[in-house]
Amino acid sequence: MTAGFHSADAPESADSHEGSNPRSASNPRPEPAGARRFAGQVALITGASRGIGLGVAQRLSAEGATVILTARKEEALAEAVAQFSEGTALGIAGKSDDPAHRAEVFDTIAEKFGRLDVLVTNVGINPVYGPTIDIDLDAARKIFEVNVLGTLAWVQGAVHHEQLGFRQNRGRVVSISSVAGERPSTGIGFYGISKAAVSHLTKTLAVELGPDIRVNAVAPAVVKTNFATALYEGREDEVAAAYPVKRLGTPEDIGAAVAYLSSSDAEWITAQVLTADGGVLTAGGSA
Ligand SMILES: NC(=O)c1ccc[n+]([C@@H]2O[C@H](COP(=O)([O-])OP(=O)(O)OC[C@H]3O[C@@H](n4cnc5c(N)ncnc54)[C@H](OP(=O)(O)O)[C@@H]3O)[C@@H](O)[C@H]2O)c1
Repeated sequence: MTAGFHSADAPESADSHEGSNPRSASNPRPEPAGARRFAGQVALITGASRGIGLGVAQRLSAEGATVILTARKEEALAEAVAQFSEGTALGIAGKSDDPAHRAEVFDTIAEKFGRLDVLVTNVGINPVYGPTIDIDLDAARKIFEVNVLGTLAWVQGAVHHEQLGFRQNRGRVVSISSVAGERPSTGIGFYGISKAAVSHLTKTLAVELGPDIRVNAVAPAVVKTNFATALYEGREDEVAAAYPVKRLGTPEDIGAAVAYLSSSDAEWITAQVLTADGGVLTAGGSA
C-alpha cells in the first residue's frame, strides 16, 4: 500500500536538515560533530517505525540522508515519519516479504528521488521460542522466508532497478544480522540459523557485487526494543552484568554502526559482519 505520509522533496533539500536523535541517560554519546556523510543521498530502511530501524533512519537522517521507512502498520509508520523534518522522510507501508510491496517501494523511490544510495535490510522475525528439534516447519519456513529470502530480495530489487542507479552510486547494503547467528542461543535456535544465513549471504553478495557495491552486516546482541523485551525486561541489570560494557544496546548504538559501514569512511570495508554486542560474546555469553 502506498502511503506518502510525509512528503519528501529532492534529496538536495536534506542538506538543511538536522534530524533529532534523543539520547537516553544510559547512552550519553554526543551527536556526531557536524558529520554530514549522507548529504544528497537517499537511504531505504526496512522495518523502521520503531526500534533498530528507526534508530538507523534517525542517524542517517541526522547526517543528511533523505530516508524511506517501511513497516506493516500504517499508523505507527506515519508517527515515526512525522518525527523527521518536513520533506526529509517518506513512509511506505507493507510486508517485507511481499514482492508487490517491494516493487512499490523501489518504483516510488525511483519516481520521487531518482536514486538510491544506501539499503538497510532490517526486518527480521522470530515468532517461535523453543528447541529447534521440535520447531514447526511452517514457522521455520516463514522465518527463512522473511529473514533470509526477504533480505536477498531487497538487495536484488535495489541492484536490478534501472532507475535507481544503485551500482553507479556505489551503493551500500547493510543487513541486520544477530549474535544468535554466531553462537547458538537457547530457545531461539532457528532464528539464529536464519541470521547465520543472513551473515553468509552478506559475504556472498559482497564478493559478487564488488567493486561497485559494498555489502556488510551488523550483528547485535540484546538491544532494548520491543522485539527483545522477553530477553531483559524486569532483569536488565542482571543481563547487562554479562556485558563487559555493563549495559545493553540501544537503537542509537546500531544506528552509529550502520552509518559507519554505509559511509565513505568504510570504503575499504566489505563482506564484514560487525559484531555490536558490548563484548558479551567474547566474555562467554550469547544472545
Ligand atoms: N532487539 C534486539 O535485541 C536484536 C538483536 C539482534 C538482532 N536484531 C534484529 O534487528 C532487527 C530489528 O529488530 P528490532 O529489535 O528493532 O525490532 P522491533 O523493535 O520489533 O521493530 C521491528 C520493526 O520492523 C517492522 N516489521 C516487523 N516485521 C515486519 C514485516 N514482516 N514487514 C515489514 N515490517 C516489519 C515493525 O513494524 P510493524 O510491526 O508495523 O511491521 C517495526 O518497525 C531484526 O532483524 C532483528 O532480528 C534485534
